[in-house]
Amino acid sequence: MKYLFSLFIISQIAFSCQNKAEEKSTAVGLDGWLEGTTEEKLDEVAHQLGGFSRTMVEVGYRYSELYWAAMDENWGYADHQIEHIIEAMEDGLKRRPLRAASAEEFMKETLPYMESLIEKEDKEEFLKGFQMFTSACNACHAKEGESAIMIQAPLNRTSPVRF
Ligand code: HEC
Repeated sequence: MKYLFSLFIISQIAFSCQNKAEEKSTAVGLDGWLEGTTEEKLDEVAHQLGGFSRTMVEVGYRYSELYWAAMDENWGYADHQIEHIIEAMEDGLKRRPLRAASAEEFMKETLPYMESLIEKEDKEEFLKGFQMFTSACNACHAKEGESAIMIQAPLNRTSPVRF
């Protein structure tokens, strides 16, 4: 009996040591900035990734770069931008699935159309398509109650990429 009791105490001590070790290892990231339970950490990471506004800042930048790429007839760079717009939209809609319904036409029709337009490497045709592209951005903003965010073709270059 005494032996069994000692065994129980030893196992309890071992268990609490193990818990301590786990507690210590909970903080991860540089200087342990990511703390708490796994759920708390995931929540924090999700928050840090940002929502649709973060996606849109990227899409807005790439939209402008796409325009200037076509003005330069730098079709390789234009293709790079449309591919990254698609990726940013897909990731953004994964994080904010409630936005997906408003973006359906944009994802299924507008973006593939822009891809095919870039393949044609025709600046005049691209410009016509770009107007339609811009209207599609604004149509989704209207659906999402964001009409104040009105998109228009950029007037000035803001990035250092030139051709
Ligand atoms: C889901 C449909 C949808 C589509 C398609 C869409 N947007 Fe948006 N956009 C939004 C929503 C919603 C917001 C506001 C997001 C927020 O504040 O959380 C927004 C905000 C923005 C912003 C402001 C970002 C900021 O916070 O400073 C810009 C810039 C923008 N969109 C550009 C574009 C461009 C350019 C296109 C087309 C290439 C486009 N958007 C297509 C839904 C869309």
